[in-house]
Amino acid sequence: MCLTIPAKVIKTNADKAVIFRDGVKKIIDARTVEGLKVGDWVLYISDIAIQKVSAKDAKEILDLLEYTNKTDPEGLNPVFIEIIKNSKTRKLNKEEIEFLLKTNGREKEALFSEADMIRRTYIKDFFCIHGIIEFSNYCKNDCFYCGLRKENDKILRYRMGVGEIVRAAEKAFKKGYKLMVLQSGDDYFYTKEKLVEIIKKIKEKCRVFIFISIGERNFETYKALREAGADGVLFRFETSNESLFNKLHPKGKNFKNRFKTLKFLKELKYFIATGSIVGLPYQVISDLAVDIMILRDMNADMISFGPFVPCPNTPFADKQPGDIDLALKMMSILRLEMKNTKIPVVTALETLDPKKGRKRAIKAGANALMFNITPKKYQPLYEIYKRRDACDRKTWEKYGLYNTEESYKMLEEKLRVK
Ligand code: 5AD
Repeated sequence: MCLTIPAKVIKTNADKAVIFRDGVKKIIDARTVEGLKVGDWVLYISDIAIQKVSAKDAKEILDLLEYTNKTDPEGLNPVFIEIIKNSKTRKLNKEEIEFLLKTNGREKEALFSEADMIRRTYIKDFFCIHGIIEFSNYCKNDCFYCGLRKENDKILRYRMGVGEIVRAAEKAFKKGYKLMVLQSGDDYFYTKEKLVEIIKKIKEKCRVFIFISIGERNFETYKALREAGADGVLFRFETSNESLFNKLHPKGKNFKNRFKTLKFLKELKYFIATGSIVGLPYQVISDLAVDIMILRDMNADMISFGPFVPCPNTPFADKQPGDIDLALKMMSILRLEMKNTKIPVVTALETLDPKKGRKRAIKAGANALMFNITPKKYQPLYEIYKRRDACDRKTWEKYGLYNTEESYKMLEEKLRVK
């Protein structure tokens, strides 16, 4: 359920293997992989060998997760150096965060490499893979930026049936997915009872973690879904600037209710993923600095934000897309501020930079991925924005998803709610 970095075997005996990585030797349990010998490449978790990897694939994984060299501090802006230093001992203040959001050139690269180092130190090489099932594109809201908005009559709407959703989950589970996100517009066709049924049925058939991303519902509904087995919730506040929020959401979504909902989700002990959109029309740098401070103060378990992508047939169709570098800087600053939190590479970022987006995000502090596991026929219809084919996921699926109890346990440990 995670992609780890391969290591080379330098010694073996009956049960153990000595491996070498990053200049360090380590002894791992080799009983789980048959015929492990000197010179082989191996993936391991919790000191247990998981599988052998060919030298070619090992190189590919190493390339994917290649470490950044630390930027030479010589000649960097002293204010920047001071802020990075401060981030190691205390929370950054708003001015410092704004300074980092405005960095360019070598300072920007140094910010990314600092975040990469922190990810390596605190999270090591645990990359979580989420499978996302987009089960309905109906929405009661009219957010100006989103293609699923109710007033958009140019898209074909669909709803997956309970059986169809459960089958999609089972298919992904067989591939090795252990964490699934069930996402839809704010679609109340799926009542509390229906959602409970879906979650229970998936949990009966598959040993997986379930996150829901279904928008604003009341306490009773979220409580019932938690009791039915939902583990986490994806629920963004979209922007922390109330007047900007009101400009973007003519009806439906309510600013105060977003935060009230997040509060009760925490009480219900959900694993919480929240965040905002970066580069929205009318948004300014200080709004983003406040977004970061709110996420940090909330101690969110996972950060979910991505750049704004203009979508046809919405009032913002002709607006400028969000700046990729700005989204990456957000990730890096959040990594500086929240060393252990989960930061996924979101589809919006991969859409804006299909070739390099994922790798750039990983090298700027991200440590999780979202892969679409919706049945193919529905995928083009879930048009929050026009998605482009994201970066290749073959290697991740081949080596990042494995059916072992250790990998489930490891995930369980990582998803423990703070
Ligand atoms: N660009 C980027 N993100 C968007 N979302 C909706 N529309 C867009 C867009 N055009 C995000 C919102 C929502 C999540 C499911 O998708 O933040 O909460």
